[in-house]
Amino acid sequence: MTDEVASTEGRAAIEDFYTEDRRFPPPEEFRANALVTDRSLYDQADADWQSFWEDQARSLDWFEPWHTVLEWDLPFARWFVGGKLNVSYNCLDRHVAAGRGDRVAYYFEGEPGDRRTITYAELLAEVERFANVLRSLGVERSDRVAIYMPMIPELPVAMLACTRIGAAHSVVFGGFSPDALRDRIEDAQAKVLITADGGWRRGSPVRLKENADAALEGTSSVQHVVVARRVTEIDGKPVPMTPGRDQFWDDLMAAADPSCVAVPLDSEELLYLLYTSGTTARPKGIMHTTGGYLTQAAFTHRYVFDLHPETDVYWCAADIGWVTGHTYIVYGPLANGATSVIYEGTPDYPAKDRWWEIVERYGVTILYCAPTAIRTFMKWGDSYPGSHDLSSLRLLGSVGEPINPEAWMWYQSRIGTGRCPVVDTWWQTETGGIMISPLPGVTTTKPGSATFPLPGIGAEVVDDDGKPVERGGGYLTLTRPWPGMLRGIYGDPERYRATYWSRFEGRYFAGDGAKVDEDGYLWLLGRVDDVMNVSGHRVSTTEVESALVDHSAVAEAAVVGAKDDTTGQAVIAFVTLKSGEAPSEERGEELRRHVATKIGAIARPKTVVFTEELPKTRSGKIMRRLLKDVAEGRDLGDTTTLADAGVVEEIRRLSAANPTEE
Ligand code: PRX
Repeated sequence: MTDEVASTEGRAAIEDFYTEDRRFPPPEEFRANALVTDRSLYDQADADWQSFWEDQARSLDWFEPWHTVLEWDLPFARWFVGGKLNVSYNCLDRHVAAGRGDRVAYYFEGEPGDRRTITYAELLAEVERFANVLRSLGVERSDRVAIYMPMIPELPVAMLACTRIGAAHSVVFGGFSPDALRDRIEDAQAKVLITADGGWRRGSPVRLKENADAALEGTSSVQHVVVARRVTEIDGKPVPMTPGRDQFWDDLMAAADPSCVAVPLDSEELLYLLYTSGTTARPKGIMHTTGGYLTQAAFTHRYVFDLHPETDVYWCAADIGWVTGHTYIVYGPLANGATSVIYEGTPDYPAKDRWWEIVERYGVTILYCAPTAIRTFMKWGDSYPGSHDLSSLRLLGSVGEPINPEAWMWYQSRIGTGRCPVVDTWWQTETGGIMISPLPGVTTTKPGSATFPLPGIGAEVVDDDGKPVERGGGYLTLTRPWPGMLRGIYGDPERYRATYWSRFEGRYFAGDGAKVDEDGYLWLLGRVDDVMNVSGHRVSTTEVESALVDHSAVAEAAVVGAKDDTTGQAVIAFVTLKSGEAPSEERGEELRRHVATKIGAIARPKTVVFTEELPKTRSGKIMRRLLKDVAEGRDLGDTTTLADAGVVEEIRRLSAANPTEE
């Protein structure tokens, strides 16, 4: 594929050469039972998008109706103003009250092979008890609760318990380091931290409690720590508990009152914070609120995945620590009364067919995952999916990064055996829910295209001057507010305006490049800012650079995302050491470890390139674009490239040949 997104500074905005002429209309067998097979939802939304969203909001249970559908004071939105509802009530109580208490909410599969089936009635009982636990620890409405857990059922229980009493959660992905956890706890001023002794990953325990203890050193907001028992022992010992601060989940649950009534909350009550990387070193606390978010979560989950809650077994293979898990493992599926699978571990443990074994065991009908996983499975070969019965599958989804047509075709033909529509869904932490995606019973798909904005959503590609592009490349913008949109950045309204609403007047700028083809289909081309997308996760170049220069041997560092066949992009670090420090393979490894410790394994550079100087413009700005060319033009290997004369020479040559100010 020859599409290229260039830097917003410097060269022409976006070049576009690639054409794809394969077309996949919805398979007849699928259409026969699909929820929507015509354009009625689009027509209704085109006629009046606000009343369209009102109709969707009516599928939820409200304690009090709203009086105004939308108050829009650009860039600040309030949806379903005056309405009162409760998220956990919508996700649990109403299904149980309607006689669906025995329906399975989650099939949980632990990495070691342990399994639990949890019905809606059982989930409600746990959530009520845990809501009382939170109250007993002093958590009140609008307090923030930090959650740092493995993928175990206690994680959604903790989230839903917060929503029951009007506390906001801030889930921090279990792969993040103590430093990253501490920053997030401090920014949110969380009162309670919920964690686990550990979690299982590739057969070994992840040391969550140890990390949590390290994160809490030097912070003062957290008064209590709740510890779920998952691995029981680490290094042959139970985890240390700090008296007066730490308590085990099961002890607290045993002592808690079993009933807790869901509190009616304002539609605009803060539901959660989720931190995401941007173009600076400081992560942003993205704010999501109650009524609008749940409306979009439920709507998109029902229609994009063509959900038939009585019969489908749905599996979103993301981690709940990212937005995909928030919206499409917890809130969307539960609001719709779906039956979902939660899997704790990695796809290759104990063998590379673990996912396909899970699909076969539970009869998964809908699978939602990231292109990086699909490309990994492609690499492993057809024999792993081939050795399992995958005939239960009827719909496949993709999210997190552009899916290349080859991966799309493999997914469609090898996993879906040509019977299953593939929905490539574009959205972001900030959008709260899916924005651009096919409707599987309606849209003719093209491999690699996210196709069209969903009903009710306004999206347009614009050029450098903000003028809509009818055909060709440009920047993806959103043209009107949507119910699940972020309400701001926690504690920093100005940064919210500057980050998303200042580049193009009156438009939300997503930070992504996109192109429109001759049929009006949208193709996402990746980030155009200093954000990398590694395995579907956002990593900021600045954040990794800060972590590198934090090391005592490093004078200067520049980080770029280079194309990678499996992870989409890989983190490549160019490092200049302080004088007296010598580059070595060990040093490279140490720096990679240092980044993993400062941020988390997701940000660990694939390659560290030592160079005596970094290419700079006359005004002293590092020419990242050029480094990206170097990184993409060469096979830099997997770990450390020692002060390789060739690379340095190439950097020199390119800087001389390319005097453009970046
Ligand atoms: O660059 C886009 C890419 O992921 C970014 C959002 O990342 P995050 O907030 O972590 O959320 C990921 C899961 C929703 C976007 O700005 N992205 C997400 N989905 C797609 C995508 N790029 C292309 N195609 C997609 N389907």
